[in-house]
Amino acid sequence: MAKDPLKPLISHAKEYGFVFPSSEIYGSPGALYDYGPYGVELKNNIKTYWWKAMVQVHENIVGLDSSILMHPRVWEASGHVDAFFDFFVDNKVTGKRYRFDHLVEEHIAKLEKKGKKEEAESLRQQLEKALSEQDTEYMYEVLVTNDIRDPESPDKTEWTPVRHLRLMFETKLGAAEDAITAYLRPETAQGIFVNFLNVQKTARQKIPFGIAQIGKAFRNELIARQFVMRMREFEQMEMQFFIRPGEDEHWFEVWKEKRLKWYKAIGIPEEKLRIKPHDHLAHYAKAAVDIEYKFPMGFKEIEGIHARTNFDLSRHQEFSGKKLQYFDPDLQESYVPHVVETSAGLDRVFLAIFSEALTTEQLDGGKQRTVLKLHPILAPIKVAVFPLVKKDGLPEKAREIFNQLRFKYMCFYEEKDSIGRRYRRHDAIGTPFCITIDYQTLEDNSVTLRDRDTMQQERIHIHELEQRLDELLDWKTLLQKVV
Ligand code: GAP
Repeated sequence: MAKDPLKPLISHAKEYGFVFPSSEIYGSPGALYDYGPYGVELKNNIKTYWWKAMVQVHENIVGLDSSILMHPRVWEASGHVDAFFDFFVDNKVTGKRYRFDHLVEEHIAKLEKKGKKEEAESLRQQLEKALSEQDTEYMYEVLVTNDIRDPESPDKTEWTPVRHLRLMFETKLGAAEDAITAYLRPETAQGIFVNFLNVQKTARQKIPFGIAQIGKAFRNELIARQFVMRMREFEQMEMQFFIRPGEDEHWFEVWKEKRLKWYKAIGIPEEKLRIKPHDHLAHYAKAAVDIEYKFPMGFKEIEGIHARTNFDLSRHQEFSGKKLQYFDPDLQESYVPHVVETSAGLDRVFLAIFSEALTTEQLDGGKQRTVLKLHPILAPIKVAVFPLVKKDGLPEKAREIFNQLRFKYMCFYEEKDSIGRRYRRHDAIGTPFCITIDYQTLEDNSVTLRDRDTMQQERIHIHELEQRLDELLDWKTLLQKVV
């Protein structure tokens, strides 16, 4: 079997306390993960970066934290109750399960590779029709008539009928006979739509303006694969930008550019990002693209940019009977605003950043070092403080410095093992700066400041440390690149 290209990432993430399989001691159920001590720091730093870049920097974007459980009618209005399904088939011979759309897309890619453009286009149209009509009998026909086989056992393919799976998790609100069926939200966006007027009025915003939210979303994904790429419980960073009807195209372009800048500013190279238009539009979208990152297994979606028209607000207006309109003082008219949405999957962004940062370097003498070259602003630990040795007053001096810095930055004090091993451990978790206290420190109050990427050390006076770190960890320099 082919080696999983994500394996080195998964192993490093586990070994160094970034990501663990959920409830591992019971044999994890799959597609559920826990973030460890360094993972949660990195994840929180990504969230802070997103929040600052969206909410702090834009005077016309404000935040929201809406509940995960909402009135079930929300999901009828949004279209998720009727349209949010995955379709799957099993190979009767091997018992292997596949998503229908994945099988067909893979087959289309094969046809394209062989230069059979017309056949590929015809199959794409069949896929489009099958998904939009949600017709499982037709889906089966598509598989059989196009001779689409199990990619892992082409000679042993016998498909079951195509079945569907509701992606929303159901639960009950209330007790016994009064209980109503509710859903764990499959996207954070609907909490924003139903609060549109509350937010617009209380934050005194005029169109165009945006509402941003970070929070958990849940989908009963059929096939667990590719680590945190496809989880049943994940986090989204979504922003709905409310605009005048007719301005969709303009804002769609603006947000595409801005979101690309956000990734580039923290060191994701341009050539490892691409914009891919959707082949199949979601039920709410008029135009949609994915921002994709080049992972070890190829380009994969990390964020969607969607022109959602006024679909959601109009539907909530219709289903709730409450007006969701905006009076535009400049136009002197009321309308239901249109929306351009930016929807990033936090876990996928985490993986992209982690993947980009994880580097193995050859050192002199045939040695290697593993270093996580994270942007310093995102690094879980900013500064590690080491006494050179565990005696002669060096630990006490090192603790003094640690105690001075820890109120400002995530710091780590370590005195165990050789200095070289301590450097390697911090390289592996991405700590950008290590401060070492040695005998000279006791004489002249200077320390060494080591840079993770260059491994260069400079001597610096203790009194200059804080200012120096402030410069190296400056939010302003980063945020000015993303507007
Ligand atoms: N509100 C629009 C929306 O939810 P989406 O394309 O379904 O759009 C947005 O999801 C982003 O959420 C994706 O680009 C992806 O990064 C992330 N995402 C979606 N499903 C996911 C899953 N099962 N596990 C991890 N991330 C997921």
